[in-house]
Amino acid sequence: MTEKDEKDVEVPLLEDYDATIPDSQTKADNPPPSAPKSKPIPPLKRTALAFFILCIWFYFVFTVSFYFFSFLGNHYDHTLDVLKNTASKTYDLMTELYELLVEMGYYDATMIGRPPHSPGINRTLAAELEFSREAVEMMEMLPYLQQGQEEGPLGWGEDNNFLLSGTFADLRDDGVLSYTRDPMFAVEDSSKGFDEDGGKYMRPNYVCLSLPGEGYGAIMILDVKTLKLWTIDQETMGLQADPALKGIELKEAPGNMFSPENAASRLARDALRDYIQRFKTLEWIPGGKSNGTWDGDEYARLYKENGWPESFNSTAFNIAREQWEEDDMARWDAEAPFQEVTKLDYWIQVALDDIGRKRKMIANVDAGVEIPDNKTDREAYKQELQEEVKKRIESLPKLHAELEVAREVLNSVDPEVKKAREERVRKYGA
Ligand SMILES: *[C@@H]1O[C@H](CO)[C@@H](O)[C@H](O)[C@H]1NC(C)=O
Ligand SMILES: *[C@@H]1O[C@H](CO)[C@@H](O)[C@H](O)[C@H]1NC(C)=O
Ligand SMILES: *[C@@H]1O[C@H](CO)[C@@H](O)[C@H](O)[C@H]1NC(C)=O
Ligand SMILES: *[C@@H]1O[C@H](CO)[C@@H](O)[C@H](O)[C@H]1NC(C)=O
Repeated sequence: MTEKDEKDVEVPLLEDYDATIPDSQTKADNPPPSAPKSKPIPPLKRTALAFFILCIWFYFVFTVSFYFFSFLGNHYDHTLDVLKNTASKTYDLMTELYELLVEMGYYDATMIGRPPHSPGINRTLAAELEFSREAVEMMEMLPYLQQGQEEGPLGWGEDNNFLLSGTFADLRDDGVLSYTRDPMFAVEDSSKGFDEDGGKYMRPNYVCLSLPGEGYGAIMILDVKTLKLWTIDQETMGLQADPALKGIELKEAPGNMFSPENAASRLARDALRDYIQRFKTLEWIPGGKSNGTWDGDEYARLYKENGWPESFNSTAFNIAREQWEEDDMARWDAEAPFQEVTKLDYWIQVALDDIGRKRKMIANVDAGVEIPDNKTDREAYKQELQEEVKKRIESLPKLHAELEVAREVLNSVDPEVKKAREERVRKYGA
């Protein structure tokens, strides 16, 4: 067959296809007198060709629709994404997090206070504190944990450590609500604007989802407008505590150095999902512990031994945990001689450092360097320093003698205790 023949053949075939195939076959069976001069195509070949073209046609239709629908799908996903990133997602995830901690045996399910809250947020106070309407709405919808009060500590941790050593924020409490306006204790003059150092740094849309404990721990700050979450370390003056953002430097922005905007953030739903996952995998342990530390790894072991995650028995876990805590106290007592040696070594070092420093200061006085403002007499000042050095030197023999005794006591420590300690120190440090 020549190329020309092929082309001649294709045209009627496509027409045939458009009319119906059986019809074309009858035609093929009884070629009309005006049939092309070229050799008639055998019926079998015609059918095969028709089939082939049909396949191409379907392939084409399929491919086009595939791309069309996947485009639609992406568009739909994106819309879904926007929908999912709503305020409700945030309080749903907070509820999930609180519930997970119940599942982990950290506190009882009855401790979770769910909306509608009664009494709710003090709206008068919220208005005085300049919270936005959206912020108050978010606060009304968040779950809270009853503060421990009479029942004693909330969970097993003394400070009710919630997340990265932060504590739960019960915004229904007026004192807590006020505290969330200055969780870093950084406002010096509340008449100053948000962009001035020493002024307010918590904008009307910022809601604290967790608070620092006794002066340390992470704060979760939610911007209810953008639904971005900052997880900031209170202790290190606003450094990111969100593990996903750890490497990111603080921005050197003009304005209030305590502004959360100086730190990186991510969508609350992404951060909260990540935090939930970290608890589930026992990377984080309720009570402010994490894996890779002595107690964090021990707690994780107890979780696994008691069936975490598939068949976890929180009653059995809590019995084992209390036993472990008791054993760990006993271990601490048994290791007291080691702590004594460490302490005495430290005191001796402090004394030696101080002697070195004071001798340098005496040399400076001799060399005519300026003395502190509240010292008027150079000679008296020098004598004062010399007296301090003498006292330190005199304290050394006693410290050395005590160290000697402490080292003796070490010899009498149970070899098992020694061995266990060595293993622990090798893995986690002293
Ligand atoms: C709410 O806050 C306001 C302003 O601080 C206060 O006067 C009022 O007593 C509070 N209301 C309740 C029910 O605690
Ligand atoms: C902690 O757990 C996570 C997740 O299981 C793991 O990726 C990580 O390596 C662990 N870190 C340490 C220090 O054990
Ligand atoms: C959980 O552990 C407790 C204490 O060991 C035990 O009494 C209880 O039967 C266990 N529950 C289940 C479902 O295994
Ligand atoms: C003198 O000033 C130093 C700092 O220069 C201060 O540490 C010290 O407490 C002051 N002493 C008195 C008696 O005021």
